[in-house]
Amino acid sequence: MIFGATGDLTSRKLLPALFNLYRNRNLPEPCVIVGCGRTDLDSASFRKYLREKCPDAATDSGEWVSFMKRVHYQQVLYDSLGTYQELAVYLEALDKSEGTTGNRIYDLAVPPALYPVIAKNLTRAGLATEENGRWTRIVVEKPFGSDLASARELDRVIHEGFTEEQIFRIDHYLAKETVQNIMMLRFANSIFEPLWNRNYIEYVGIAAAEELGVGTRAGYYEKTGVVRDMFQNHLLQLLSLIAMEPPAAFSPDRIRDEKVKVFRSLQPFTSVDLDEDLILGQYGPDRTGKVPGYRQEAGISSDSLTPTFAMMRLFLDNWRWQGVPFYLYSGKRLARKDTRMVIQFKHAPHSMFREVLGENITANRLTMAIFPEEEIRLSFQTKVPGARICLQTMNLDFNYSEDFSGPVLAAYEKVLLDCMQGDQMFFWRQDAVELAWEFLTPILEECAVCDDRPGRLHFYEAGSWGPEAAGEWLSQLMK
Ligand code: BG6
Repeated sequence: MIFGATGDLTSRKLLPALFNLYRNRNLPEPCVIVGCGRTDLDSASFRKYLREKCPDAATDSGEWVSFMKRVHYQQVLYDSLGTYQELAVYLEALDKSEGTTGNRIYDLAVPPALYPVIAKNLTRAGLATEENGRWTRIVVEKPFGSDLASARELDRVIHEGFTEEQIFRIDHYLAKETVQNIMMLRFANSIFEPLWNRNYIEYVGIAAAEELGVGTRAGYYEKTGVVRDMFQNHLLQLLSLIAMEPPAAFSPDRIRDEKVKVFRSLQPFTSVDLDEDLILGQYGPDRTGKVPGYRQEAGISSDSLTPTFAMMRLFLDNWRWQGVPFYLYSGKRLARKDTRMVIQFKHAPHSMFREVLGENITANRLTMAIFPEEEIRLSFQTKVPGARICLQTMNLDFNYSEDFSGPVLAAYEKVLLDCMQGDQMFFWRQDAVELAWEFLTPILEECAVCDDRPGRLHFYEAGSWGPEAAGEWLSQLMK
């Protein structure tokens, strides 16, 4: 069941993902897809609508036609319990006519403000219940609330009918290959883990630079800003995978337990840290004036103080990471899209080449890049051939697209498959959601009430790497 069936997410991501799963024989048999929404449609007109909206999905192929036979539509008015009761009857009838066994996934592809009412009515209509071996699961996307209190409230409402095992909180970063590979790299090799600590690592950098601006999401972004949009979820997930202790088993809860321990060790920000360890920014027009600044974008207020850029220095209070800074960096309208994690190792403790080469021998760096290339790169020093003693930095690298061929699952395909299989490993658990908010909410609140809100916001030119204030940290991270 896809709630929000005529919405953007359904036609852009969910339906194409389901179609690909179908084409690659990854959908269970039998399986039907029911679009639900406020629009008054029947199944035939919903299929016609999808054909127009999903042109990238080979809608002229025979496979699309047979896939569409599985697609149905049922109108649901989100705040009307009666329409959920009708949905329940409709689904029972479909189970009989299509031979489906009653296992159900409710994917809420709707604005987050609608999550509570839909979850509540599904529960009241008996649609959350699991009985006679049938399972039901609910899928929600970030944002999970906008602060600690609202995240708890949302969770309370969903938990009225669904247990934690039934709730799948998507973070699409967790479906990225390089992100899943962090654990393989760390724990399927023995050479990294002995070095993976404060004794050898100078700092860790996690960057998600974006070239695009706010686009058509002004209404959402004005209220959200970059810290809620990128840090509370994606960047903190990456941090937890880099920083966690080796889990005892490759199982969802053992892994998520270790992540939660990382979130518990986040050193809370003081007001001094806010000045020293957080840089907020907002993009202005680009140099030519052709690219508008944030405040000139459609739907954005001309005196908006919403940050579109943030760089944060965090510390973890635990044995492994004491004193190692973690730099988190993200922003819109930056020079180019670049998503990567950097493990910067310390310099060699003693340089026997000092007299010839001076002190500045570049330290090793491990880069796990997500975009533009998915790759893992380890830099090290080599001697340039010839009589002179001269060093050059070289890389050992592994590039996904060059070294692996075969079908790659898109993020939503992976997410939907995992959900069908009941595998929560790459989904958020509620305790982690709350800990992430617990860490960020005081920062967000302090920034919102601080006397000098405009002074805190550093403007940067669209197309640059961010505000000058971030220059020193940035030159290390993005070099
Ligand atoms: C989303 C944010 O969660 O992630 C967007 O809401 C952002 O603002 C996007 O652009 C970035 O995702 P990706 O996969 O393109 O790095």
